[in-house]
Amino acid sequence: PTIVVLISGSGSNLQALIDATQSGALKAKIINVISNRKAAYGLERAAQAGIPTQTFSLKQFRDAGKTRVDFDIHVATAIQALRPDLVVLAGWMHILSPEFLSHFPGENVINLHPALPGQFDGAHAIERAFEAFQQGKITHTGVMVHKVIADVDRGQVILQREIPILKTDKLEDLEARIHSVEHEIIVEGAQAFLNALQK
Ligand code: GRF
Repeated sequence: PTIVVLISGSGSNLQALIDATQSGALKAKIINVISNRKAAYGLERAAQAGIPTQTFSLKQFRDAGKTRVDFDIHVATAIQALRPDLVVLAGWMHILSPEFLSHFPGENVINLHPALPGQFDGAHAIERAFEAFQQGKITHTGVMVHKVIADVDRGQVILQREIPILKTDKLEDLEARIHSVEHEIIVEGAQAFLNALQK
């Protein structure tokens, strides 16, 4: 099976996927990595692994007088051309429009989100969980891999994992604990999705 991965940043989750395809833990081939930022270090990780990359800049679309939907349709079309079995959002920092998702009726787009279902949808989920913990509102947080639908971070959950928050934690301790779990769950979630496809 083939995978296209979308990134915006350091790509540590992309690296986890790359390592898993090389070790055999993830039985798939990453055929392309797409970034919305030229400077994303994840592009370097892809290049090191010999994986072709593409960059699409929303700013360039805006500067050309195009809309956010034009951008989404362009990216979706580029992905469709590769006919992947699975599209993984690994830190893709854009909310995908319904126009983008309409290109993927097979619901084969999954996203990694560093919070539990319905807890802290959207950006800065880890910081918001840490604040809620400090206010005594929660005792733990988590990470999930879910199918992407137009409603942000609300699609069918494929895998989720609870993560404890310790009294001694500073924000960076929680971030480190969450990221290490992310690197596992993104691989397990991708494999679980592909297994369900084969059935
Ligand atoms: C991860 O925490 C992911 O859950 C969030 O953005 C971060 C991406 O990190 N959406 P990386 O670029 O994979 O290192």
